Amino acid sequence: MTLQDPALRSGPAALLDAFWQGTHLADPPAFLDRAREVSPVLFDPARGHALLTGHAEVSAALKSPLVRTTKYEGGEAFRASESHALMSPMMLFHDGPSHTRLRSLAGRAFTPRVLEESREFIGSLTDELLDGARRQGEVDGVAALAVPLPVTVIVRMLGLSGTDAERFREWSASVADLIGGLDVTPERWAQVEADARAMRGYFRTLADDLRAHPQPGLLSALAAAQDEGGRLSGEELLANAVLLLVAGHETTSNLISGSLHALHEQPEQRAWLAENPGERAGGAVEELLRFLSPVQGTGRVTTGPLTLGETELPAGTFLSVSLAGANRDPRVFADPHALDLARPNARAHLGFAAGAHYCLGAGLARLEGSVFLTRLLTRFPHYRVPEQPLAYRPNFTLRGLRELRLHLR
Ligand code: HEM
Repeated sequence: MTLQDPALRSGPAALLDAFWQGTHLADPPAFLDRAREVSPVLFDPARGHALLTGHAEVSAALKSPLVRTTKYEGGEAFRASESHALMSPMMLFHDGPSHTRLRSLAGRAFTPRVLEESREFIGSLTDELLDGARRQGEVDGVAALAVPLPVTVIVRMLGLSGTDAERFREWSASVADLIGGLDVTPERWAQVEADARAMRGYFRTLADDLRAHPQPGLLSALAAAQDEGGRLSGEELLANAVLLLVAGHETTSNLISGSLHALHEQPEQRAWLAENPGERAGGAVEELLRFLSPVQGTGRVTTGPLTLGETELPAGTFLSVSLAGANRDPRVFADPHALDLARPNARAHLGFAAGAHYCLGAGLARLEGSVFLTRLLTRFPHYRVPEQPLAYRPNFTLRGLRELRLHLR
């Protein structure tokens, strides 16, 4: 199916079908524009499903007390799986007091001071990765820069051993598949289950060690928060540490690789940023978050009748909340498909969501993004990206390039 397909020219039900089938992944902005034109709240009462693509509607839904997160439930077999045991205590899937409790314990460990202490490390790591990539000539910027930067940073912040970084990368790809993977074959599912089992084993042992012998890092701080409050169970500690690990890098890698590509595509924007990266990178990161939406969307369910815009949604409606749609809404962002690094209201983007689940790591992601852009454009303002076919990873939620060949010079 292409975006010219007649199904996309017809009513809400056909558009929602196309969305469920993943047709929009061929060209998300064009599909989301089309959906928003029909209605920013595209509702199919027969299915109990609504797709939200307007900025005001997405923001209102995320902040409404009449919505809950989509529980990590599934069928009986799934509920007995390792993957379910790993994922269900993550704060992402909790609401109300149980969410507040998990989030505040994690937030206690993840403080602005912890963040500030990482700034220097992020700078020297970026330089090291850029040096390595330059020495190799043409490299895959995803594997050489976009993946190792955030994974190394979060592994260090958690206080995990750097030598396990490769294992974390593989595990985290499995959790990304659990969050929004498409085409997960039975073989892949078996691997995901094996990885979930291995992660639970690894973190359980580590958590016990850390409680007995605290080390610097977030994981010990999380374990200590449990001791003080007597509240985080072993499974909760494990799940939320894994969440930080995965949320801390799958998303930021996509921001970095997407930025490398977008700045190559728009040389005048790149040149503007390269004139004064130290001053301009902070604002540029906001616009890149808006433009790229590394997390394309999330899900919610209404718990009571909810009116969004002009549409009344009954209790129990499943909401596909498109952050990418909101970030290209022309009612908020002038010329929304243009990358404008000096856009005055770029910070109004919803790339980190809104409301109770607003990204806990937004400060870290912003820091990594701006340090990376500053170092890259100070040292290699003329990096080259040869002509190449582009492919995105098959994921509904996390949008990121598989590979991006480039040359630092
Ligand atoms: C470009 C980078 C990032 C983007 C675009 C991003 C985006 C998001 C979004 C959209 C949510 C809300 C999901 C929902 O409501 O369903 C979220 C939640 C979260 N993010 Fe991020 N994130 C990024 C980086 C990070 C980093 C670096 C960390 C931590 C190290 C992190 C940790 C979290 C956590 C723990 C949550 C769950 C918060 C909660 O449920 O209360 N994220 N993120």
